[in-house]
Amino acid sequence: MTQALDQAATLAKTWLEGLDERKVNSTASLETLRSRFSGPLPANGEEPVTVVQTLARDMQDGLLGSAGGRFFAWVIGGGLEAALAADWLVSTWDQNAALYACGPAAAVVEEQAGIWLKELFDLPRDASFAFTTGCQLAHMTSLAAARHAVLKADGWDVEENGLIGAPDLKVLVNDQKHGSIRQAVNFLGLGQSSLVQLKTDSTGRVLTSELEQALSEHKGPKILVLNAADLNIGAFDDYRTLIPMAKNAGAWVHIDGAFGLFARTSAKYSHLANGLELADSWATDGHKWLNVPFDCGVAIIRDQAAHKAAMTIAADYIAPAGAARDQIDWNPEWSRRARGVPVYAALKQLGRSGIEDMIDRCCAHCQAIVRGIGALDNAHVVFDPQLNQGLVRFARPGDTGEEGDLYTKEIMSRINATGEAFFSDTVWQGRRAMRVSVVNCRTNESDVTRAVEAAQWALQMDKVECVS
Ligand SMILES: Cc1ncc(COP(=O)(O)O)c(C=O)c1O
Repeated sequence: MTQALDQAATLAKTWLEGLDERKVNSTASLETLRSRFSGPLPANGEEPVTVVQTLARDMQDGLLGSAGGRFFAWVIGGGLEAALAADWLVSTWDQNAALYACGPAAAVVEEQAGIWLKELFDLPRDASFAFTTGCQLAHMTSLAAARHAVLKADGWDVEENGLIGAPDLKVLVNDQKHGSIRQAVNFLGLGQSSLVQLKTDSTGRVLTSELEQALSEHKGPKILVLNAADLNIGAFDDYRTLIPMAKNAGAWVHIDGAFGLFARTSAKYSHLANGLELADSWATDGHKWLNVPFDCGVAIIRDQAAHKAAMTIAADYIAPAGAARDQIDWNPEWSRRARGVPVYAALKQLGRSGIEDMIDRCCAHCQAIVRGIGALDNAHVVFDPQLNQGLVRFARPGDTGEEGDLYTKEIMSRINATGEAFFSDTVWQGRRAMRVSVVNCRTNESDVTRAVEAAQWALQMDKVECVS
């Protein structure tokens, strides 16, 4: 019964122990991967241990080293040891974390994890919360509560009547928003035409004049979505100015804090996120900066009644104090995994001080990578990180903007092909740049050095090519 599990544990440990040495990029091609896994549906079964062994063998060179410290692409955290181990147990216990009755301990642990997160982020202690699959679903959950509340204030019951004939609801958004906001708006039936883009200044903050104008133009129900660290430069909006303006106009304010909410855990960086506690809802991720395994997002919502009305069929029922918390009342799914349990384990492993230390280390490493690469010939710092996100561009003297864009892509591909470090790119202010994101608890000084050396090597290839 446990042979396959023993095998999986051994394979997992070998994988983790090899992360520092293994190439961080995938080396198997799409054709190779397809050829390994395609074929007819097996007519007969195999021994579980054989299934696990061959699966791991055939997947290995098609995996990215994103769990390790040399992965700086997108915004992808690693896995703290206690969180990963707890995640294994969650699968093993296989509780349906929809109801207290289906998994009493899982419900209580998730409840405590939510309480701790509100404390960690210093958000209203009486807010409700939900552990979702990711920040995208945390946005959807929060915006569903927002949709309920602002339409109710206009005399419309959206859960009962849907949106046909509803008052015209507008979603005012920072124009540097993440794509997951657009998706959430679509899922909620509001459509892209409900979005009103608010222009930002050169530091990624919504211009006050833009919000002023949007509020005066849209007298009906509205939601304002602000950033707590946008994906390119980690920009934070001016909450103390914008949130009171929006609230005075009757808007619900939602914060995309996928990773930026964690700035509030650090004495060094919390000033960036001052004032966001004035909002109505916040979405963040466990699988980014808290370093719990995928999948884990969190929605925190000030108005419990609106949250519950949007998520549960017993819309106006609030559990009496002291009663168990049924996750189904707060989550968009029915059956679900107890993804709050690894969060509990992560918070226990690190404590407040460990989290602050992890946040500060990631930021320092990001700054060192951006400055280290930016100091190389033909490399340019586009954005020096104020948190854990920075931008670098590669361009030779005399390159046009387009040539610089292509060269940036080329150098980044060369770096990634070394297997020493892995980055992703973006377009920021109209120009391509390589993005440096550090959210992995494993990243250390040696990883920083290896990333800078890989960039140096990639840039020097030009000189080698010229000589030959
Ligand atoms: C700023 C921001 N918001 C939202 C998301 C979506 O998060 P998730 O992928 O967990 O749904 C991301 C993902 O990278 C992000 O960077």
